[in-house]
Amino acid sequence: MQTTNLQIPLILKAFQGQPTDRIPVWFMRQAGRYLPEYNQIRSGLSFMDLTMNVDLACEVSIQPYIRFGLDAIIMFSDILTPLSGAGVPLHFEEKRGPILSKTISSESDLTILDSFDPNRDTPFVKEILQTLIGKLTSSAPPEPQNHFLSKEDVKNITRPGLLGFAGAPFTLASYLIEGGTSKKFDKTKKFMYSHTNLFHKLSDRLASMTIDYLTMQLQSGADAVQIFDSWGGILSPSDYAEFSLPYTKKIIDGLKQNSEISEKPVILFVGNGAHLLDQMSSQRPDVISLDWRVSLDEAKRFISGDIALQGNMDPLVLYGTKDRVKQETTRILDEFSNRKGYVFNLGHGIHPEAPIECVETMIQTVRNYKKPV
Ligand code: CP3
Repeated sequence: MQTTNLQIPLILKAFQGQPTDRIPVWFMRQAGRYLPEYNQIRSGLSFMDLTMNVDLACEVSIQPYIRFGLDAIIMFSDILTPLSGAGVPLHFEEKRGPILSKTISSESDLTILDSFDPNRDTPFVKEILQTLIGKLTSSAPPEPQNHFLSKEDVKNITRPGLLGFAGAPFTLASYLIEGGTSKKFDKTKKFMYSHTNLFHKLSDRLASMTIDYLTMQLQSGADAVQIFDSWGGILSPSDYAEFSLPYTKKIIDGLKQNSEISEKPVILFVGNGAHLLDQMSSQRPDVISLDWRVSLDEAKRFISGDIALQGNMDPLVLYGTKDRVKQETTRILDEFSNRKGYVFNLGHGIHPEAPIECVETMIQTVRNYKKPV
């Protein structure tokens, strides 16, 4: 039987540092409230219920692929899902975001996380990934329905990569200590500096949980996984080295030590982490996802050349004119496209009010881009 290379996602080649004839594109939070078709499904359900409803979560995961023909589908879930599975009750409130009804303040609170088993406690995550990979590799996979993709484009499209993800221990610890999203992270920092051993124990426990959680995802069909250290950038370089790096490194090392999944790319994103590029590189992820404050010069200087890059347009550019979106997308492509292994993305999650026409302009600009020779 002829094996078709259309089954190897283009994005995986870029993640593995191989050249690609077109630059792959996906973006963080691509399944969400800027899409009317998402809001329609979401209107009858709470966010948490949607993440646990396998059929609807799969539908929502695929929506941005159908609309834009993106190169990756990220499973619909949240970084806080495993905490909920481990027994921390949480819900999401409009405007306030996640609210956790148990927080960690003493050693005995750590037992909340003691017995997390991803197969037992988050079975729907496994089923979502198994269902998605089944659909993507079936004889009748979902097809993008996009006016800027020709029939020929759709025929030649490689199947999108399937991405799983988890929060980094530091970012998860901040939610467990603050009880929700914080602006200043004063409780987190007070905890770090005054109960340092306990903070390390908590982070170590979260790292072990996350190894199990991401292993389960990679075994259930994810082609690659992204670790979101969304709040890691609030730390000074030396605090990052002490309080966050050892735990994301433990996760990366743990995944790489398992020969069954060690070939699958691991992406590391540290929000607001322009001052931490060398420390991200030293953990040896396969890919580093850059936020918009980083230039290629800095990335080249601090990140090892064999690590692929992903990024990094400011999501707020999408509120500008289409001309501006095209100009900025092109500027970023000119900056990064000669890098071995590069994937276009936003520098952080897309905003809920981002205009769809501008998202289209961004994607179309990436798809039509010819690398300078
Ligand atoms: O990227 C995707 O499309 C996949 C799904 C995804 C969501 N959250 C869905 C979501 C992913 C990868 C995340 C990760 C996540 N969740 C992060 C890391 C990424 C980042 O933005 O830094 C963080 C910090 C969270 C925690 C979280 N979840 C917050 C603070 C909020 C509230 C803020 C908001 O945007 O409303 C959420 C809710 C959330 N997670 C929504 C979605 C689509 C909005 C929920 C809704 O429908 O009301």
